[in-house]
Amino acid sequence: MKRKTSLSSLLSTVTILSSVQLALGGTTLGRTPQMGWNSWNAFKATVNYTVVQEVIESFDSLGLKKAGYDYVLLDDGWSSFNRTADGYLQANATSFPSGIEALAKEVHAKGLKLGLYGDSGHYTCAWRPGSWGYEERDAQTFASWGVDYLKYDNCGGFQSMTEAPQVRFGAMKNALALSGRDIFYSVCEWGYQFPWHWGGDIGHSYRISGDITTSFANETACQCKTAYCLNTGYAGCSVLTIINKMKEISQYQTQGHWLDMDMLEVGNANFTLHQQQTHFAFWAALKSPLIIGADLSKLSNDSLAVLTNKAVIALNQDALAEPVIYRQAFSEEGLFQVWTGKVEGGYVVLLLNEKSYSQHISLAFSNLGLGTPKKVVELWSGQNLRDSIKFNETLESYQTLVFKVQT
Ligand code: GAL
Repeated sequence: MKRKTSLSSLLSTVTILSSVQLALGGTTLGRTPQMGWNSWNAFKATVNYTVVQEVIESFDSLGLKKAGYDYVLLDDGWSSFNRTADGYLQANATSFPSGIEALAKEVHAKGLKLGLYGDSGHYTCAWRPGSWGYEERDAQTFASWGVDYLKYDNCGGFQSMTEAPQVRFGAMKNALALSGRDIFYSVCEWGYQFPWHWGGDIGHSYRISGDITTSFANETACQCKTAYCLNTGYAGCSVLTIINKMKEISQYQTQGHWLDMDMLEVGNANFTLHQQQTHFAFWAALKSPLIIGADLSKLSNDSLAVLTNKAVIALNQDALAEPVIYRQAFSEEGLFQVWTGKVEGGYVVLLLNEKSYSQHISLAFSNLGLGTPKKVVELWSGQNLRDSIKFNETLESYQTLVFKVQT
């Protein structure tokens, strides 16, 4: 009898464990990189209900939802500076007077999903309460409000920072798995300890560098210009630096555990059209999450056209889920870059002029070792190339041409 009891309890433990396992890794979240809008780049900690309501409306009126964007993400600043008297997270009562649960209902009614920001330390970067020691309680709170996405940050030091990121971010992973709701988990620990070697076990996506800035190139901060630099330099990385970091690590991109190059500055920074196209093309083809960071009420037609380009978004959401890889042998260090990767029906080639002046560049598609090109379309212009074997033309300052090659 005793033996029978212990066998059945063993069996139920195994059942519980395997269902936990299923909840951790078996969901369909993140089959393609997530797409949405996040409040941080344009609004910092001042995000409020009015802003979010306008955003929700713009998802329809600007055609963003139709283009595939579906997450509305509140970054740091959504919560009060204090927990409730009994220790629960709560919304900032002035910015979100009706609270998060009501907002989630509103977002869901529009066919969209709601995300919140939290932190693995005692405090968030903007000094709101972090979830260290409160992981399960906070995950339950998010689930009870109907939250669909959690961006989880790395600030708020003290003793929590003596724990490895794997421990701090793993604790919230487990808490989310036990919350009873399928919540997308976006790990934001700025590339510390190289999460592309372990982050796949923890998040659906994970940031690879310090914060993006509104500089396209030649930033003053962001000391680390390479992925394996030990001082990851908390913030201020330019678009070009983040692209260059991916030269070393794009091969670690895996389906459901996406390397996150940070929120987009398209429409937020004062970039030329070519800079915006380059930024968006690389984020898309490298399979980074596509999270708009702009104030949607101020988006220019050019920026909107970049952000909703169907063919470029299709690269990001392609079923093969393969990132482009830097092709050093075809590139000229510091002058121009060639990246290639497979997509359904053929392959894609990105050709970037990384100089502030125009350059004449030639590239023989047939030499890339990816099959004989039958037809080549440049995705920004939508034009077929007359010569599908060789490209031989001038690229403007910081311009990227994106070739979809049918084989
Ligand atoms: C940073 C994070 C940013 C933003 C900010 C909020 O650590 O990388 O994306 O979330 O905190 O304070």
